[in-house]
Amino acid sequence: MDATAINGAGPARSAASITLEDIGKTYPDGTVAVGDFSLEVRAGELTVLIGPSGCGKSTILRMINRLIEPTHGRILIDGEDILQRNPVELRRHIGYVIQNVGLFPHQNIRTNIGTVPRLLGWPKAKINSRADELLELVGLDPARYAKRYPHELSGGQRQRVGVARALAADPLVLLMDEPFSAVDPIARGRLQEEFLRLQAAVRKTIVLVTHDIDEAVRLGDRIAVLAEGGRLLQYAPPAELLSRPDSTAVSDFVGSDRGIRRLAVTPLKPAMTPAGAGTTTGDRPTVGAGGTLYDALAAMLAVDAAEVVVVDGEQAVGVITRTSIFEVPEAEAKV
Ligand SMILES: Nc1ncnc2c1ncn2[C@@H]1O[C@H](COP(=O)(O)OP(=O)(O)OP(=O)(O)O)[C@@H](O)[C@H]1O
Ligand SMILES: [Mg+2]
Repeated sequence: MDATAINGAGPARSAASITLEDIGKTYPDGTVAVGDFSLEVRAGELTVLIGPSGCGKSTILRMINRLIEPTHGRILIDGEDILQRNPVELRRHIGYVIQNVGLFPHQNIRTNIGTVPRLLGWPKAKINSRADELLELVGLDPARYAKRYPHELSGGQRQRVGVARALAADPLVLLMDEPFSAVDPIARGRLQEEFLRLQAAVRKTIVLVTHDIDEAVRLGDRIAVLAEGGRLLQYAPPAELLSRPDSTAVSDFVGSDRGIRRLAVTPLKPAMTPAGAGTTTGDRPTVGAGGTLYDALAAMLAVDAAEVVVVDGEQAVGVITRTSIFEVPEAEAKV
């Protein structure tokens, strides 16, 4: 991670790999929050940490930006040991988004977004234009929102500003701790969709903590399932985790969620847009017309596709997108 890379100024590089090597945190009172945790997060991928309350997810996340100092282990960003760096300086290059956003209440939205660029000494005009560009990117009209104060926004809008602020200095790494859990389920679904579009555009290396397996499956390139003490049970892409949990602890955890189980018993039709005559599959994945939404999602996730073609024999009969799967009302399930 040279100076060019970490400032995000390199033309080709906008994300960095993260390597956690046997990291752990024991608190002075003897609590082992994280015993011995290792993980490799590839550049430009979104890794989800999921597991029960108190298992050490936030601790792991906060060790990556050194809000918490590990008791042992090594943390590498693009191969550089970040424990050797000045933590305050380091944090200016790592975006961090938390549950209730933590916007500064007495600063307007534009000033909030410009926090890190200001610390980095960017010229004022550049900070303002960057803030406006990010507001556009997260779907908030700068003319309308830049001068408002946080209390003049809805919870979901504040959350989007939180994401914009974290992206302001074009960090190589973004850490997100339950970023969408404080908003209502409908707004959350929308935010997740927007966030997927944003990530497709910016391709940051992201570590995101959640309690919600639906959210993990929806957003994650890979999911790390944790147990108490930061014990890693399985680290796999969503489709693999759902179809091949490698322990009963993981299958209990994954299977305990209603949403995912529901997909396995919901037919394709309610999520499908009928295909016009002459539609071909191209290089899109396919799912047989007799399958379930679970099959459709697994087919998409297996090749990281945004949509799947429903086929009846040789014939393409419809198209299903990742978004449409999650919009099917619960009543459609055959339970
Ligand atoms: N300062 C501290 N002193 C002692 N123990 C602590 C301290 N901070 C956190 N812990 C403990 O460390 C463990 C891991 O906490 P952490 O916040 O990482 O959990 P989590 O997985 O993020 O949980 P949640 O899903 O509830 O947010 C918990 O058992 C917690 O009680
Ligand atoms: Mg936590």
